[in-house]
Amino acid sequence: MSASQTILVTGGAGYIGSVVTRDLLSRGYQVVAADALLFGGESLLDLLSLPAFTFSKTDITDADQVEKLFARHRFDAVVHLASIVGDPACKAQPELAERTIWDGSKKLFELCERHGVRGFIFASTCSNYGKMDEKQILNEEAPLRPVSLYAELKVKFERYLLDRSTSVDFTVLRFATVYGLSLRPRFDLTINEFVRDALLKGELEIYGPQFWRPYCHVSDVARAVLLVLETPSDRVSGRTFNVGSNDENYQKQMIADEIGRQMPVKVINVEKAEDPRDYRVNFDRIKALGFEPRMRLADGIREIAGGVGNGLIADPYAARYRNS
Ligand SMILES: NC(=O)c1ccc[n+]([C@@H]2O[C@H](COP(=O)([O-])OP(=O)(O)OC[C@H]3O[C@@H](n4cnc5c(N)ncnc54)[C@H](O)[C@@H]3O)[C@@H](O)[C@H]2O)c1
Repeated sequence: MSASQTILVTGGAGYIGSVVTRDLLSRGYQVVAADALLFGGESLLDLLSLPAFTFSKTDITDADQVEKLFARHRFDAVVHLASIVGDPACKAQPELAERTIWDGSKKLFELCERHGVRGFIFASTCSNYGKMDEKQILNEEAPLRPVSLYAELKVKFERYLLDRSTSVDFTVLRFATVYGLSLRPRFDLTINEFVRDALLKGELEIYGPQFWRPYCHVSDVARAVLLVLETPSDRVSGRTFNVGSNDENYQKQMIADEIGRQMPVKVINVEKAEDPRDYRVNFDRIKALGFEPRMRLADGIREIAGGVGNGLIADPYAARYRNS
């Protein structure tokens, strides 16, 4: 892709989408952000005066709305972020989750094929791996063991793409768990939640401090999306990439330790024998494209503490900052 092309960002008002949208605009792309605004649209307000930016209130579960969107614009590529996001949100609304992640994504992709869209990026998740075998570090070829409806639906749509004979250059990105601030902050994600609680309650209750997971800052996830969009298609088309860094696999205890280096906090460990989402991930494949995160855990903690501690985010416990 090159600048002056038009990119559709579904879920463009969201935690990650609001950053991706800005990054694309600053690179000179025309951007259409489409979102059903489940958590409001304040994250996009400052962009409305830009000629290169268009917002469309579109629900991807409504086929008519999506067809109208494609009739109004000619897209060179689609960054598909719209989703019911996370295990608890999908568990709470299983039918909506399926209509969004499975039916909505399929309809969107078929329209991309029909309208000759060249590139399609699907936001998937490292949660697809589920629990790892002892000491194993999972790369993109590792077996997928989804342990939630959320991951099952992401895996189902990944397989649909990978099994399809299609003219669209699609890429699957499996994001690590994201941290850091955007204009639609989320405080239902481990690191963000821990920093908020450490600051405002002075204590952290950690369930299963020994369990591993990979993490990545929201600005780096957005940079990975841009990198893939701008990499020649023969290197990314039809491929799956984990998005994160080998150095950012952490046990929950390691996150609490780093928080403790930046602020006083009492940590209460609650032992759990089993966590179905205990995994460490290998990120060599995206690194080979030239991707290296710029932000690290310590930077993210400082950033979140700055937003919460100084009252810039007045009520980080508000419902709009969590997905379920
Ligand atoms: N945040 C993470 O840790 C993480 C990790 C792995 C993967 N992901 C994936 O990244 C993507 C973005 O996640 P996020 O953290 O920004 O979540 P988010 O909830 O902030 O963003 C999702 C956006 O999609 C919109 N949306 C939901 N249903 C819609 C529909 N039917 N039509 C149109 N828009 C709709 C919501 O209004 C929201 O703005 C998702 O696909 C998610 O599965 C996120």
